[in-house]
Amino acid sequence: MRWLSALATSRAYHQHWRVTTALVRPELLAENLTARLETALEKHLERAQAWYPHEYVPWSEARDFASVPFEEAQSRLSKEVRASVQLNLLTEDNLPGYHGAIRNVMGYSDVWRTWLDRWTAEEGRHGIALRDYLTVTRAVDPAVLEDERMLTMSAGFSSGDRDGLRVIAYVSMQELATRVAHRNTGKFSDDPQLDKLLARISTDENLHMVLYRDLFDAALETDPVVAMNALFAEVVGFQMPGTGIPGFVRRAAVIARAGIYDLTVHREQVLTPLLGYWRVFERELPPEAEAVRDQLALVLEEIDRRASKQRSRSA
Ligand SMILES: [Fe+2]
Ligand SMILES: [Fe+2]
Repeated sequence: MRWLSALATSRAYHQHWRVTTALVRPELLAENLTARLETALEKHLERAQAWYPHEYVPWSEARDFASVPFEEAQSRLSKEVRASVQLNLLTEDNLPGYHGAIRNVMGYSDVWRTWLDRWTAEEGRHGIALRDYLTVTRAVDPAVLEDERMLTMSAGFSSGDRDGLRVIAYVSMQELATRVAHRNTGKFSDDPQLDKLLARISTDENLHMVLYRDLFDAALETDPVVAMNALFAEVVGFQMPGTGIPGFVRRAAVIARAGIYDLTVHREQVLTPLLGYWRVFERELPPEAEAVRDQLALVLEEIDRRASKQRSRSA
C-alpha cells in the first residue's frame, strides 16, 4: 500500500517532530510493556485454539503436476482473489524476517522470546495452509510461487529506524490490516472452502492484533507523548510489510481496485477501530501529546480525501 507514503513528506509530518519529550524514564516504559506482555500472552494462550491446515484443503482435487501441467485457466478463483491470497501468503512466509526485526528492537527476554516463537509458529501455519490450498486448487503456478518465496525471504525485512513503540504501533495496524485483507478476500472469492480457511486465519490475526493493541495501550498510558509520536509516524508512513515481494505494487493495485483492500477499507476497518480502542481523540493528554493529536487529525482528513478520490477513480 503506497497511498500513504506521500503523506510522510507532508507539512504535518514534519511539524510534529518539534515535540518529543519523554515523560518517563525509558526503563519504566520497558518495564510496563513487559508486564503487559506477560498478561497479554497468558490471555492469548488461553484463547488461541489449535487447528490443522490439512482439514481445510480439498485434497481430492489434487493432480500430479508432471502429468497435468499448470495452466492459468485451471483456477476457479478470479485474478483479484489470486493476487490477494498470493500476496498474503508471501507475507506469511516472511515471518522470520518480522520476528528478527521485532527481536532487534524489543530484546529477547523470556517473555518476548516465548511470544515471538509462538507468533512465528502460528503465522507459519497460515503459510502452510494457504500454500497447500493454492497448490491443490491450482490457483498459482507452484514454480513461480516458490521462486517468489525465495526472493521474498532472501530479501528479509527491516524495520528501518523504528524504535520499539513505533514497531508495536505498526504491528497493531498490520495485524488488523492482515485480518481484514484475509476476511475480505474470502468474502470476495465466491469459494466457500477458501472463505472458511481465510476466516479461520483471520481469527488468529485478530488475536495477534489484540495482543499488540494491548501493548500499545500500555505505552499510551505510561508515556503518552512518546506513544502519540510513534502512532503518528506509523499512521502517516503505513505500508503493508509485503513491499519487498516481487510485483507488490501491481498486485496491491489490483486488490485495491477490486475493493478487497483499499484506502477506504484501511481507514474504516483498521484506523478507525484502533484509534477508537485507544481513545486517541477522547483521552486526557499532556500538551505536547495534544499537539501531535491535532496533527494526526489533519492527517486523517487527508487520508479521507485520498480515499474518496481513489474510490471515485475505481468506480
Ligand atoms: Fe498470518
Ligand atoms: Fe498475525
